[in-house]
Amino acid sequence: MKKIITIIGARPQFIKAAALSRQFAQIGVNEWIIHTGQHFDSNMSDVFFEEMDIPAPAYRLDIHSLPHGAMTGRMLDGIERILENEKPDGVLVYGDTNSTLAGALAAVKMHIPVIHVEAGLRSFNMNMPEEINRILTDRISSVLFCPTETAVKNLQREGFNCQNPAIVKNGDVMQDTAIFYAKKAEKKSNILQTIDLQQFALATIHRQENTDIPENLQNIISALNEINSEMSVVVPLHPRTRKIIENQGIKTYFRIIKPVSYFDMIMLLKSCKTVITDSGGVQKEAFFFGKNCVTLREQTEWTELVENGFNILAGSNPEKICQAFFTLINRKSDFSLNLYGNGKAAEIAAKIILATEKTEIHRN
Ligand code: UD1
Ligand code: UDP
Repeated sequence: MKKIITIIGARPQFIKAAALSRQFAQIGVNEWIIHTGQHFDSNMSDVFFEEMDIPAPAYRLDIHSLPHGAMTGRMLDGIERILENEKPDGVLVYGDTNSTLAGALAAVKMHIPVIHVEAGLRSFNMNMPEEINRILTDRISSVLFCPTETAVKNLQREGFNCQNPAIVKNGDVMQDTAIFYAKKAEKKSNILQTIDLQQFALATIHRQENTDIPENLQNIISALNEINSEMSVVVPLHPRTRKIIENQGIKTYFRIIKPVSYFDMIMLLKSCKTVITDSGGVQKEAFFFGKNCVTLREQTEWTELVENGFNILAGSNPEKICQAFFTLINRKSDFSLNLYGNGKAAEIAAKIILATEKTEIHRN
């Protein structure tokens, strides 16, 4: 496939795209990016394009801040109109956001093969919008790039076979990005001077199940307040969570900062003592940068981190969160385990995409 349209819109997708767009440019895939606009603040979007030299979007839909149906529906409409004109050989989508589902659905209805990077992940919790998005996207994709063996097995359990659609375990493209930018981040980021702390825990919170259920958010904040009395907690806060904390007047005693750039995030991850998060990407990055992680969820798609003792699932229960934190802060983990490939996930995917003819792809 020589002409690919990539659909991105949310912060983690920019970070994943950074790895694959670079490979596309190197091997001669003609990539056109559609930015749905789902994330739109400059520190949630532009900063990543600038810092990581992601090609400028050819199209910007500017669709955001809407309920799920309206957001996905408007994206579907906008993407369909562009695909009609551009007639790409394939459409590439990442992860599990509303932008992912809208892109996949627009393409499959037009008989354009869908390529899903980060396929096969499951939390087995259908209350999460992400679980719905990823199950549906996988079902209508023709090429499924899986980051882990667990992801491959999840697809097989759901009746996918390995040829049609094609399932490829290529590794994790976020690891490629982390490896590629780790040194650059050291040179370019000033975040450690800005926060000026000897030791700290790094936390992020943004998942719907934590922000939109007031009791869950209160509980998480009270756990972070308590941890902060022992060790400083730094939270680059997602705008969703910031708005809710402000509206509800919840008291926070830890250090809240604006969402940071990826280079700043790398430096925070490298320098913190432990990570506390409900983010999918940050759970893995904690591991990439040698940190244990308390996960503010009841399940994770990244089960290998829990099985190998790098991650403890604490949900939103304040006692469990504090207990997990104080357990992990003293745990000596061996981060040399290879869980996510060898940093060549994007290279593998790009070569396969280039070599696959549209006509070779058939769907069940
Ligand atoms: C979305 C994804 C989630 C992913 C996350 C990454 C879905 C269903 N959810 O969640 O899977 O983990 O992105 O961060 O697709 N907002 C701003 N400025 C921004 C971006 C968002 O103010 O730049 C506000 C919006 O106005 C909205 C809220 O944050 O009110 C939530 O944004 P939305 O994109 O709907 O969901 P996320 O929580 O970001
Ligand atoms: N991230 C960032 N700045 C921040 C918070 C997160 O650059 O202030 C990066 C983080 O390093 C990871 C990605 O954003 O690469 C994760 O995105 P997020 O947590 O928003 O979404 P999820 O992975 O949960 O879908």
